Amino acid sequence: MSKLSIRDLNPAGKRVLMRVDFNVPLDDEGNVTDDTRIRAAIPSIQHLVDAGAKVILMSHLGRPKSEKKPEFSLKPAADRLNELISVPVKFASDCIGDEAADSVANLQDGEVLLLENVRFYPGETDNDPEFAKQLAENGDIFVNDAFGTAHRAHASTAGVTGHIDQCAMGFLIEKELEYLVEKLEDPPKPFVVIMGGAKVSDKIKILERLMEKADAFIIGGAMATTFRLAQGHEIGKSFAEREEEALELARGILQTAKENETPFYLPIDTRHTLEFEDDAPTECTDPWEEGGAIPADREGIDIGDRAIEEFERVIADAGTIVWNGPMGVFEKRGFDIGTKAVGAAIAANEGAIKIVGGGDSVTAANQFGFGDKMDHMSTGGGASLELLEGKELPGIAALDDK
Ligand code: 3PG
Repeated sequence: MSKLSIRDLNPAGKRVLMRVDFNVPLDDEGNVTDDTRIRAAIPSIQHLVDAGAKVILMSHLGRPKSEKKPEFSLKPAADRLNELISVPVKFASDCIGDEAADSVANLQDGEVLLLENVRFYPGETDNDPEFAKQLAENGDIFVNDAFGTAHRAHASTAGVTGHIDQCAMGFLIEKELEYLVEKLEDPPKPFVVIMGGAKVSDKIKILERLMEKADAFIIGGAMATTFRLAQGHEIGKSFAEREEEALELARGILQTAKENETPFYLPIDTRHTLEFEDDAPTECTDPWEEGGAIPADREGIDIGDRAIEEFERVIADAGTIVWNGPMGVFEKRGFDIGTKAVGAAIAANEGAIKIVGGGDSVTAANQFGFGDKMDHMSTGGGASLELLEGKELPGIAALDDK
């Protein structure tokens, strides 16, 4: 059943308490270095402002472990939001109690207030009902648009819904659900899933679940090295999950793909190096040797040139693409060739639905300038993984059904 949406509300003159995910990176001077999550919440904030609501925002930032540490203050996020929207953004130095209550009481229709970090209190992560009730006192209506935190059953994401009559999702959560759930129910074919990053064990549930739907898998990153090790190939000093348990998981996936006759593309060749440094010399393994042995003193850091060619061909033909995880250590110069090429190939497929899971692949897509070519770039790391695994997210489940 679909959830009540921000579009279904009548918020004029009401206090709308909205959970956003302003867990953004800050530099040493306390400036926001990536405001993607703040921008992603603006459509919902602007909609409520235009409708004449009093908009009260709450969020966490980092993991301050229930201590009021200044380096975890949300004030820099309030300042950044203030620069991005047309109405001034006020800030309250507490999320509950008199300070919050006074700031909320002084708010006029169409104004915006950001409350201080909810994780300054242990009741937040404990989902303490008393703390959730205190947060709920700040609003007449609750909107959750914090997709990145929707996998947490915390007081400000789930508990609060027990104390407010109307609880709806915002536009961001609506869009995340549209792309990560609805569009994947019957995806235009071929449906190609591209997985990378460090660990097979982190992505195993997604691989298992998407096995029923995907027409092909492309695997890169250190994940691919674990698969190669599981097949019995030499991987030198490469990072991989070497424990038998992880190797068993990898073998299980390879077996299922074989039984289903689902193409499962591991890199034909791997780029490797002696030194794990920017611009270090690299070589590719021999593409004619099955599994491409990496010499004992070297480590794999990216997919090789032949792998890139093969992956590009598969991507060019896709009708739907889900990309989660880089192909190599793209943060280092010279180790980013595969990730850049795969991102470019996805961006070039104009006809396909192009979805980028959260985390590193979003960073890579933005870094290489492909972000605006994608149909959807998830703002959630853990939340997008759990959604792709088919899990129900507590912060969404707790909202009102339509
Ligand atoms: C995230 O950055 O993934 C979310 O903001 C959730 O943060 P958390 O992992 O500290 O709960």
